[in-house]
Amino acid sequence: MKIFRTKSTTPGDFDHTGLHKCLSAFDLTFLGIGAIIGTGIFVLTGIAAATQAGPAVVLSFVIAGIACAFAALAYAELAAAVGGCGSAYGYSYVAFGELIAWIIGWDLILEYGVATAAVATGWAGYFNNALTAVGLALPNALTKAPMQGGIINLPAAGIVLILMVLLMLGMRESARTNMVMVFVKLLTIGVFISVAAFHVNPENWTPFMPFGWSGQSPDGKPVGVLAGAAMVFFAYVGFDAVSTAAEEAKNPQRDVPFGIIFSLVFCTAIYIVVAGLLTGMVPYTQLNVPSPVAHSLHLIGVNWASALVATGVIAGLTTVMLVLYYGLTRVFFAMSRDGLLPPFFAEVHPKTQTPVRVIAICGLLISLIAGFIPLGELAELVNIGTLAAFVLVCLGVVVLRIKQPDLPRPFKNPLNPVFPLLGAFSCSGLMAFLPWTTWVRFAVWLGIGVLVYFSYSIHHSKLQKHSA
Ligand code: ALA
Repeated sequence: MKIFRTKSTTPGDFDHTGLHKCLSAFDLTFLGIGAIIGTGIFVLTGIAAATQAGPAVVLSFVIAGIACAFAALAYAELAAAVGGCGSAYGYSYVAFGELIAWIIGWDLILEYGVATAAVATGWAGYFNNALTAVGLALPNALTKAPMQGGIINLPAAGIVLILMVLLMLGMRESARTNMVMVFVKLLTIGVFISVAAFHVNPENWTPFMPFGWSGQSPDGKPVGVLAGAAMVFFAYVGFDAVSTAAEEAKNPQRDVPFGIIFSLVFCTAIYIVVAGLLTGMVPYTQLNVPSPVAHSLHLIGVNWASALVATGVIAGLTTVMLVLYYGLTRVFFAMSRDGLLPPFFAEVHPKTQTPVRVIAICGLLISLIAGFIPLGELAELVNIGTLAAFVLVCLGVVVLRIKQPDLPRPFKNPLNPVFPLLGAFSCSGLMAFLPWTTWVRFAVWLGIGVLVYFSYSIHHSKLQKHSA
């Protein structure tokens, strides 16, 4: 049946894409760190501690980190064995066939697109604060979406357009800019850790688990350490974007698995330390604010560090947007190249070696969304989309080991199928702790995707000619 037709894994299939193969293991790791550390740690840690987990938000980070580690191993195996562009979309095309691949590609568009627009809104908040601090505040009409009483959130729309130009200019330029800003963000986190380490009051860690493992708030929302894990999972979103860079990596089979695993391990360690220090420094009840990390430093009176952290957040959120937007364009590009989206988008500019049309259309759309719709609360929608992709990638490892046992696998999951199944199980477990409204939104998005598939993609697929 057409919907089950699969792509082959012929080596060399992905060698002549027109994209510039310029990324080293170092660049890929920095792309990973660029995408990972952002709103999750700078904003959601405080909200999750105050409303869902208390100081045990540290455990929420550990649990979400373990689920991601299993998924990262699965990504690493498939990135090394299957390769190609499109990440989980591409792997599913090989393992499960076209319909599932389409659904996962459609899902990744949601993940990366909504995440970029949501982070742009958060970025604009910090940017406006900085402008206000130096006496250059923009009028309200230009900092708020129409639903919030303004005309447009200009900084949110503007930053996306700036990133659009950067991504069009070239991947090497984008990777360099990313690296500089990742350094700035790591530096500010270093400052936070050094200051916070001397201001911990262990009494703040009791009660450690005020909301227990799981439960419900009076207004019916899930609370507890596990619900906290489902929320702070957002902090890990993005390491998978490294796998969308496979076609621009110099040595993808070796370096993509390295970039994925190393960036994840590094960021998990940082998260656990920062979450522990944050809840040790101030009572968790005071952390339900838009900028808990900077706010906590302000509360203990270290204002210079608070200002510095705010600057780091601006740089940090910029790299998150850059890498997620990049991931979006590469998934879109791969789907167009396969004929599932219009081929108009599959063109690569000969000079910059970037898919400029995809970058332009995605940039314009995200910038419109970020400018006109207040998306700040959609982190959970991103989480459900990402978790769904992780579940399929984990299952993809198991399926491919059965279907293609002899496929060369430069990187292998230990204890197959135990590790990938644990990954699928833990990621679906986290999905279960997300609010039902998130499930409804996700189902609506996938429903639209299935309609598009049956009305357009199934008839235009490049595999069309070769299958019955
Ligand atoms: N992991 C990214 C962040 O926390 C999406 O902002």
